[in-house]
Amino acid sequence: MIQIVYDDSGALSAQRNAEIPHPKSNEILIKTVACGVNRLDLLQKAGRYPPPPGESPILGVEVSGIVEKLGEEAQSKCNLKKGDAVCALVGGGGYAGYCAIPWQTAIPVPQGVSIVDAAGIPEVFMTAYSALYWSSSMRQGESILIHAGASGVGLAATQLVKALSGGGKTFITSSSEAKISFCSKIVGGELHGINYKEKDFAEEIVSATGGKGVDVIIDFVGASYWEKNLKSIAVDGRIVLLGLLGGSVTESGLNLGMILRKRVAVVGSTLRARSLEYKRRLTEEIVTKAVPLFEKGLLKPVIDSVYPLEDVQAAHDRMQKNLNSGKILLKF
Ligand SMILES: NC(=O)c1ccc[n+]([C@@H]2O[C@H](COP(=O)([O-])OP(=O)(O)OC[C@H]3O[C@@H](n4cnc5c(N)ncnc54)[C@H](OP(=O)(O)O)[C@@H]3O)[C@@H](O)[C@H]2O)c1
Repeated sequence: MIQIVYDDSGALSAQRNAEIPHPKSNEILIKTVACGVNRLDLLQKAGRYPPPPGESPILGVEVSGIVEKLGEEAQSKCNLKKGDAVCALVGGGGYAGYCAIPWQTAIPVPQGVSIVDAAGIPEVFMTAYSALYWSSSMRQGESILIHAGASGVGLAATQLVKALSGGGKTFITSSSEAKISFCSKIVGGELHGINYKEKDFAEEIVSATGGKGVDVIIDFVGASYWEKNLKSIAVDGRIVLLGLLGGSVTESGLNLGMILRKRVAVVGSTLRARSLEYKRRLTEEIVTKAVPLFEKGLLKPVIDSVYPLEDVQAAHDRMQKNLNSGKILLKF
């Protein structure tokens, strides 16, 4: 089978005679149709995000494809059969023609979503769902600020808020008017977009909320946004930190006084290294709560671009240059 490998310099190449993985008893073998490109793929090939112990060293943490074979336990415990279309979060190994996944993490491709586009569901919707409803316990009608609004996770989060906990104000930040209007088209007019290159997002939030601030912040930026996040958060607010695109060490030192006075909860989360039990529970909630919304057209994977697998370098370049709005996919 074909798979994408990288060398010490991070250079990518296709290997055409790789061995097809053998599914363990609790695993399903999927013939990959598409896989999602994620920021952590860029970090992994640069040697900055090693795969968790026991996971495939091949890049790729989400796939869509056709069930080819089921291990013994998988056959007796899950409802899937050969030929079914699924998508899934994987610990690694997505950039390969076949991928073995625990049956507990398979999501049937929602009706009305193409099998290629379904590769853009698992990582961003599972990350956004767990950040919104597990890490920050966001409630109906609360206000929220979602940074990197046009990112894959950002667009999943804004759609989930609208579908599951709308009613409050939703703010997003992004680097351009074009990205902000793209997000508004996807999510609807309820979005308040802030171009962080032109405006101070904290001042905008404070003014638009009458000085109260927002109840929840979903942040991928970290250090460079820390002070402004503290200004933007409401009393009893929750900040969920999912990425460190703007660095991990603040220049001015941590403002602990503001955390104390506002009673702010700061929660960090990563998905890839979570236990199988965590991923099983999250998959179950995505299947019961989000899949029906995809089928009603209330959620959709937002696909920026689809590249043939062989053009993986161009796909990575697009993400590295922050050119995408939504998901970049690789098609087999
Ligand atoms: N913790 C987890 O479980 C988890 C899971 C999945 C993803 N993530 C993280 O979530 C983030 C988004 O992932 P994604 O796949 O959705 O990314 P993506 O689609 O590639 O979008 C990332 C966007 O972030 C913005 N950005 C980049 N550098 C920035 C900076 N220094 N300051 C402010 N904005 C910046 C850019 O948008 P603008 O042009 O609008 O600035 C960029 O297009 C990444 O950091 C990723 O590692 C975390």
